[in-house]
Amino acid sequence: MTGSILEACSDCKACDLATTRQTVVISRGNPEADLMLIGEAPGAQEDMQGLPFVGRSGRALDQLLREVDLDPARDLYICNAVKCRPPNNRRPKKAELAACRSWLDLQLAAVDPKVIVLTGATAVEAILGIKGGMTQLRGQWQAWSGRAVMPIFHPSYLLRNPSKAAGAPIDLTRQDLAAVRRRLCER
Ligand code: URA
Repeated sequence: MTGSILEACSDCKACDLATTRQTVVISRGNPEADLMLIGEAPGAQEDMQGLPFVGRSGRALDQLLREVDLDPARDLYICNAVKCRPPNNRRPKKAELAACRSWLDLQLAAVDPKVIVLTGATAVEAILGIKGGMTQLRGQWQAWSGRAVMPIFHPSYLLRNPSKAAGAPIDLTRQDLAAVRRRLCER
């Protein structure tokens, strides 16, 4: 099923991002995983390589995942709310999120994850419909369609806030991912 998503999606022209993208960025990781991570939209590296979270943000994300003993290639299916890079890395528009939603829904149905991690406000708004500050939302378990959902800071925010101190955004995100790992082990 994920293979057919890939074929159909890679030629999508449902919104204007199709005219500026290099590649439709669909996923990386394991389509059989119990954990799905959803980000915002591809950046320049992702657009070039055709894989989500492979630039600086992705490396920061992978490092934190490994620190809580989650293997990005084995334990997660990683994708974005929007599959094509917005010009100059601007936030995706409402219409772009709406145009891409059916691809995300197909991915959710195919992977059928038990737990979902949402990185950053765009992914939180796309899935949960909650508009709010990530400082309040992160680390608070939510529910969507019978699945446990954990909002976390976006890795690009962590790159802008590099403190390693206890209670700083990196430390809080590590705690949130550790809670996700524990939740997966409970099942
Ligand atoms: N930021 C995202 O939200 N997704 C990516 O794939 C890369 C950067």
